[in-house]
Amino acid sequence: MQSLAIIGAQWGDEGKGKITDLLGAKADLVVRYQGGNNAGHTIIVGDKKIVLHLIPSGILHPHVLSIVGHGVVFDPGAFLDELVKLDNYGLKVTRDNLAISENCTVITSYHRLIDTLRESNGLRKIGTTGRGIGPAYEDKAGRRGIKLRDIVHRDLLKQRLAECLAEKEVLFKHHYHSPFPSLEDETNRLYEMGHKLSPFLCDTFGLIDQCLQNNKKILFEGAQGVLLDVDYGSYPYVTSSNTSFGGIFTGAGHPNRPIDEVIGVAKAYTTRVGEGPFPTELKDGVGEKIQTVGKEFGATTGRKRRCGWLDIPLLRYSIKASNLTSIALTKLDVLTCLDELKLCYAYRYHGKELDCAYPGIDLSEVEPLYKSMPVFRDDFQTNKTSHEFETYVRTIEEMVGIPIGILAFGPERNQIIFRKAYF
Ligand code: GDP
Ligand code: IMO
Ligand code: MG
Repeated sequence: MQSLAIIGAQWGDEGKGKITDLLGAKADLVVRYQGGNNAGHTIIVGDKKIVLHLIPSGILHPHVLSIVGHGVVFDPGAFLDELVKLDNYGLKVTRDNLAISENCTVITSYHRLIDTLRESNGLRKIGTTGRGIGPAYEDKAGRRGIKLRDIVHRDLLKQRLAECLAEKEVLFKHHYHSPFPSLEDETNRLYEMGHKLSPFLCDTFGLIDQCLQNNKKILFEGAQGVLLDVDYGSYPYVTSSNTSFGGIFTGAGHPNRPIDEVIGVAKAYTTRVGEGPFPTELKDGVGEKIQTVGKEFGATTGRKRRCGWLDIPLLRYSIKASNLTSIALTKLDVLTCLDELKLCYAYRYHGKELDCAYPGIDLSEVEPLYKSMPVFRDDFQTNKTSHEFETYVRTIEEMVGIPIGILAFGPERNQIIFRKAYF
């Protein structure tokens, strides 16, 4: 196996960071290809909790080359803060273990400001992370995005920022009545950071191509999850990038090759941060218990995550939409706190029973149909798991139709069972 992708199969925060860290140890390259610092990927190493937002989760392994592909929207300030944080953990990040595409689109202060103004004043609140992700992708698609390679040239940067600001200035002044940074200040801020960034910048597409020709092993680290994909997700309550399989090809490149394995990471239940429909959401004590025991707080914004039962129609959809070949099922340990356990196996929608959450259906109108499962109380101290635990896992496997290759039962590196060989 030369290539592997790790993709969130739900609404993000499925535990991708932990799986990427573990499988990344066997890879030569770990590549982020979409999203930005809206991501929060947690890795627990001993007593350290490391949350990565922009830098790929391969960075913890010194032999791995981490790559930020051109599909990522890049906030230079957030990146430099993350470098300092990693340095404090004793992790050295240099041009030998990190390459950033010079074609990443820059998130400016204007994008962040618009994001937060819209969320506080807009007609439709999405519950974004406020990191400027959507507005930066808008400018990219609008062909007025600023690329990282532009920020090391002061005059060019100022010109690009002026283009970016032209329409936004009207919004700031007349629509939102908000102060905003001057063109001069924003130019200075980004230009200064550009010099610190420039050693990491290169043509990452060419780099990936060369590495693949030299038979290097590559792992693509997805951010967010399939249900947050701008095309495949629960639109408009989504992020602004292609979080699913297709994003790899537009956001990083994998020239002339198929991807051997696409692992969909899913929690043994479902969570969501932000607004939008959530068919199996539990707005009762059971949901609260999962939230508390699972420590379900967003790794980027600290918001409480909404919690609910595992939604099989959603997983079946993610498998189709993102070509998933196996599943990593995480947070199984959290379910041991419950006195009841349910799986949503289908939806009732306009009088029909549906087993897959195709995008044509309105998720806010479905009625989830549940199967009660025997509870399990495993303490995961030995390799032996209970019959009830195995029943839960096997039932999910049979329902989704692809293998569950990984079972995770705690945040630490060793709290995992590999049922399938990867790399
Ligand atoms: P990501 O965005 O997909 O990387 O996931 P996050 O890091 O945002 O959230 C997952 C959280 O669950 C983190 O706090 C992890 O440390 C934790 N975690 C991962 N796997 C497990 C698991 O199997 N059990 C428990 N209890 N926690 C886990
Ligand atoms: P990781 O990679 C969970 C959600 C936000 C909001 C919507 C749009 O850690 O799984 P955005 O700021 O992207 O415009 O917000 O997407 N969201 C995430 N939810 N995990 C994430 O990343 C997320 N990144 C964005 O809460 O609902
Ligand atoms: Mg996260």
